Amino acid sequence: MLLSLNKEIGNRKTELEEIMRHLIDPLDFSVEEIDSLLKLADDIAQNPKKYQSVCAHKKLATLFYEPSTRTRLSFEAAMLNLGGSVLGFSSADSSSASKGESIADTIRVISGYADIAAMRHPKEGAPLRAARYSTIPVINAGDGGHQHPTQTLTDLMTIRRRKGRLCDLTIGLCGDLKFGRTVHSLIKSLSRYNNIRFVLISPEELRVPEYIISEVLAPKGIEFEQVTSLESAMPKLDILYMTRVQRERFFNEEDYIRLKDTYILNADKMQLAKQDMAVLHPLPRVNEITLEVDDDPRAAYFEQAQNGVYVRMALIMTLLGLVQEDKN
Ligand code: NCD
Repeated sequence: MLLSLNKEIGNRKTELEEIMRHLIDPLDFSVEEIDSLLKLADDIAQNPKKYQSVCAHKKLATLFYEPSTRTRLSFEAAMLNLGGSVLGFSSADSSSASKGESIADTIRVISGYADIAAMRHPKEGAPLRAARYSTIPVINAGDGGHQHPTQTLTDLMTIRRRKGRLCDLTIGLCGDLKFGRTVHSLIKSLSRYNNIRFVLISPEELRVPEYIISEVLAPKGIEFEQVTSLESAMPKLDILYMTRVQRERFFNEEDYIRLKDTYILNADKMQLAKQDMAVLHPLPRVNEITLEVDDDPRAAYFEQAQNGVYVRMALIMTLLGLVQEDKN
């Protein structure tokens, strides 16, 4: 009896795992799936009314163990725009994590309260662990210095809208490439498109982690260079992706202070760039882009933050299986 019950539970779990999708790593969706999702996000941006009741009676749980403005609020705005509701917490202190509850227990419980969950956590791999115990789709909203796949969807939508393509591009990534999880996810994702070249602009100490080179760039033979000068890289770039030095991931404050203002993009540096280059930044900005650049038509970062709502709407619909097949 016990054996057959176990078998039944085992089978049910396998079936659930088969039909339920999570977004933990930027490569969890194929290029074709990303393409459909970005098309859906474009349609949502153009026809928001069409989608205002798609998630009626559905609930999104936002489980944020680390600070956030854009990611959490754009997830919440996304679910509200779809006619759904949101519940959650915005810091580890206000959750039972402060009492020592495990991720596995928390997500098991939340699975009974909500239909989908977005999780941000300072520990790398925490959302993956949650997904293993969850009976609802889990979205990685940033895990430590590791990955940030929904920021990547936002970045891809912005690049596609600005440049009309995701292939044949030279992309400069500038700043904290070591700890910047948005950078890691964007490199992973863009590496799947044709004729992509990366210019990795950082101080020696903040270069991309070795695995990005050995597991992502090298196996695919993707062209890249690691440089320290932003000025000399500027003229060749189609996209410049600026990032903040990730103070919270530094071991000591002195190193942070020494490195924090290495790159400051200003109007003078923008003069070195192509007329149709686009400047992206996942935000928050600290000092990396001066305010005068905001008025340059090439500044795309506020539109990028807005696109975050559309891609998250498209993602929630996709993971909840609420996307209608295109009949054309
Ligand atoms: C980024 C993050 O949290 O990794 N912010 C965001 O989600 N838009 C970038 C950062 O904090 O520097």
